[in-house]
Amino acid sequence: MKRITTLSLALVAGLSLILPVHPDEPKNHDKDVVYDEAKVPPYDLPPLLVSSEGRPITTPEQWFNVRRPQIMGLFGNLVYGTVPAPESPIRTTFEVVKTHLEFMNGRATRKDVRIRFENAKGSAEMQILVFTPHNEKHPAPAFMLHSFGGTKDDSHDAHPDRPGFLRNGLPLGEFLQRGFGFVVAPQGDLVRHNEVEFLKGIHPLFYRTGQSFPKANEWGCISAVAWGASRAMDYLETDRDIDAKRVALMGHSKMGKATLWTAAQDQRFALAISAQSGCGGAALWKRNFGENMEKMVTRFPYWLCRNAWKFVRNEDDLPVDQHMLLACIAPRPIYVHSGVEDTWADARGEYLSAYHASEVYRLLGKKGLTTEASPPVGEAIVRSDVGYHNRPGGHSIEMFDWLKFLEFAEHHLKR
Ligand code: GCU
Repeated sequence: MKRITTLSLALVAGLSLILPVHPDEPKNHDKDVVYDEAKVPPYDLPPLLVSSEGRPITTPEQWFNVRRPQIMGLFGNLVYGTVPAPESPIRTTFEVVKTHLEFMNGRATRKDVRIRFENAKGSAEMQILVFTPHNEKHPAPAFMLHSFGGTKDDSHDAHPDRPGFLRNGLPLGEFLQRGFGFVVAPQGDLVRHNEVEFLKGIHPLFYRTGQSFPKANEWGCISAVAWGASRAMDYLETDRDIDAKRVALMGHSKMGKATLWTAAQDQRFALAISAQSGCGGAALWKRNFGENMEKMVTRFPYWLCRNAWKFVRNEDDLPVDQHMLLACIAPRPIYVHSGVEDTWADARGEYLSAYHASEVYRLLGKKGLTTEASPPVGEAIVRSDVGYHNRPGGHSIEMFDWLKFLEFAEHHLKR
């Protein structure tokens, strides 16, 4: 026993030598990237309001008809990958497989909805959850969460000991009380988190004869997750309990990246919230701060499309940056959330993205961020079409964050 104790102590001491924990350093993430503002390279952001042909974009019409399609094409072909047209038409069916009318002591209805896709190439399905508040008279506005977890386990059951919370910690009661529904759209049913299973899930339904892997400009995981959320929206348009015109889409981290790409493509989402989406999400590539293209594609080779690999150590050559993706969500409200200790995700780069995207919001007559300086930590900008906060702490969504997201959505979506 004593020997084991001595051995484990020695191991712990050894490990802490290898992995020194310093309060200012990000935990669990690579040290060989830039975490020092002074080391951010000089960079030029591609202009939002100049077309690829070099013409100034000065009106909303020119933005929507010329510049926005150019930018979306670049993001589709070089960053996230486009969804190809399927050779064989896909038949989609919705089935409410379970209804719980007295969820959370009668505060809501919970529906488990199966969405099934079928064509000559195969079939796939996803299961979403729809919670609707009982206190809302009209069809309710709702949040849709791009979720890491599945919906077929018990994580979305009411927590047995924490009233108003789900087992997974989601404060559902707060949403219900404020008259919001809540929809959970999981990533895992249609595509794996990270992996090469492109022969299962949704991709095979879209392959051309003989194809078994997406082409270099075709959809990776994030694009597939985005496609799934749009199908969940197709269902919501048929659900009379939810007002499909007032759905706020949100996600954290990888799911925050997916949120931005989904909302840019699918204009039915009324509002988007990117929580600590970082690299490939709200953060600017060209700052090269924290996670960068090389880190992203080597660790997660299939989140983006393979064309993105061309910009490893070469973010400068990417003809877009992430402020342009946020701008493609305009005029719909967008909220960006950062964490002070979440240096891997580059809080400053997330803010700057939102700040630069504001140029397009202003062109469209909306209110954007007006100062290049980030707001003080803990101060939320809510009464704006481009909202933002950076709070103390690391990579998570805390109650403070949920409350700010709700405030933002109430300000923009509640009647
Ligand atoms: C990793 C990855 C991030 C991502 C995060 C997450 O840290 O590098 O880009 O946001 O996982 O999804 O939690």
